[in-house]
Amino acid sequence: MKTQVAIIGSGPSGLLLGQLLHKQGIDNIVLERVSPDYVLGRIRAGVIEQGFVELMQEAGVAGRMLAEGEIHHAVEIAVDGALHSIELSKLADGKVVTVYGQTEITYDLMDARNASSQLSVYEANNVTPHDVNSNHPYVTYEKDGKTHRIDCDYIAGCDGFHGVCRPSIPDGVIREYERVYPFGWLGLLSDTPPVNYELIYIKHDRGFALCSKRSATRSRYYLQVPLEEKVENWSDDRFWEELKRRLPEDAAAKLVTGPSLEKSIAPLRSFVVEPMQYGRMFLVGDAAHIVPPTGAKGLNLAASDVNTLYRILTKVFKENRTDLISRYSEICLRRVWHGVRFSWWMTDMLHHFDQSSIEDKIRDSELSFFLASPERRAILAEQYVGLPYEEIG
Ligand code: APR
Ligand code: PHB
Repeated sequence: MKTQVAIIGSGPSGLLLGQLLHKQGIDNIVLERVSPDYVLGRIRAGVIEQGFVELMQEAGVAGRMLAEGEIHHAVEIAVDGALHSIELSKLADGKVVTVYGQTEITYDLMDARNASSQLSVYEANNVTPHDVNSNHPYVTYEKDGKTHRIDCDYIAGCDGFHGVCRPSIPDGVIREYERVYPFGWLGLLSDTPPVNYELIYIKHDRGFALCSKRSATRSRYYLQVPLEEKVENWSDDRFWEELKRRLPEDAAAKLVTGPSLEKSIAPLRSFVVEPMQYGRMFLVGDAAHIVPPTGAKGLNLAASDVNTLYRILTKVFKENRTDLISRYSEICLRRVWHGVRFSWWMTDMLHHFDQSSIEDKIRDSELSFFLASPERRAILAEQYVGLPYEEIG
């Protein structure tokens, strides 16, 4: 088989890239190691930057997002029981965020791909990139007892943090930067009405909490828990009681509880590799970087990587702008590092570390300093809604 772009991974990065390239008439094949249902079963983030919405519109798959996504003009930060509104659209030139679950985005992209002529191979085993540092890279995979080969012009490594593409880059070529946080997030999904229209990020002596949502009838809540915590130690009742203790009083009084649809603990880390490419293979999204979810940047940074790669490859195939190939990593990393820093900053300011340390007192001071004036809240708002995408070429 031959294609112009072999895309490894059928998460949001791989599917969005595939759809955008397809709209430009650029042939691509998606290779995914698990089933479509497994991909759709992942419960992930739901705050979408405007740039991502516009990219989904350009891909022709924004219909449901625009119809069902909730526009948010603000987020709330609760400190010492008081709510502080970060007025996003007022402070960040009218920009807003859209609340629409990643599962829905993945579903919409899969639906569009299934309706197109593009080939997607699910449950592809041992997907392996080859000769990526040559002019004739190819990918092999095993399925139905046979080994298949796909010759291609370029490979997009959209295979996430645990994928095969990043590790296939020889030692000494890429540098890794990592910070692991001393706590995790226990998340719960429930078909209960959200406690508040706006998201609430809660700084509390008992630990951080987040009140989010997937729709007007489906809520997503998180509690900071110690790294060694086990989800089986958390009954639904225990979760709801702890959330109520961390919520401001009047919000706690309004909280509607109910059975969990999903409950899981995720560790928090900041991780970036440089460069995000090797030869004709490009790392995209979680394959290249991970951020703590406090800034809602994981999915949005994946979208900006996709935007950069899609525009570069379109210019390469249509205008022979091969000079742009070597610029992918540099362009992506400028915005990635801003997202990494913002996610670290929000995590550092809002989580409970060791209360007795001077660092914790400095964190308290930093948060109250930035909440105290609209000019300083604007610094938080413009990063939360998402910095602009860089022009390509
Ligand atoms: N071969 C084929 N597919 C693979 C392989 C492999 N060796 N390894 C991983 N994959 C697939 C995974 O099964 C997954 O479906 O690659 C896909 C990667 O998708 P994500 O992990 O969702 O990464 P990405 O598409 O970059 O989306 C980033 O997802 O994890 C969240 O918080 C993250 O919201 C962010 C978004
Ligand atoms: C979510 O809805 O899952 C969510 C929202 C905002 C965040 C992190 C997660 O910062």
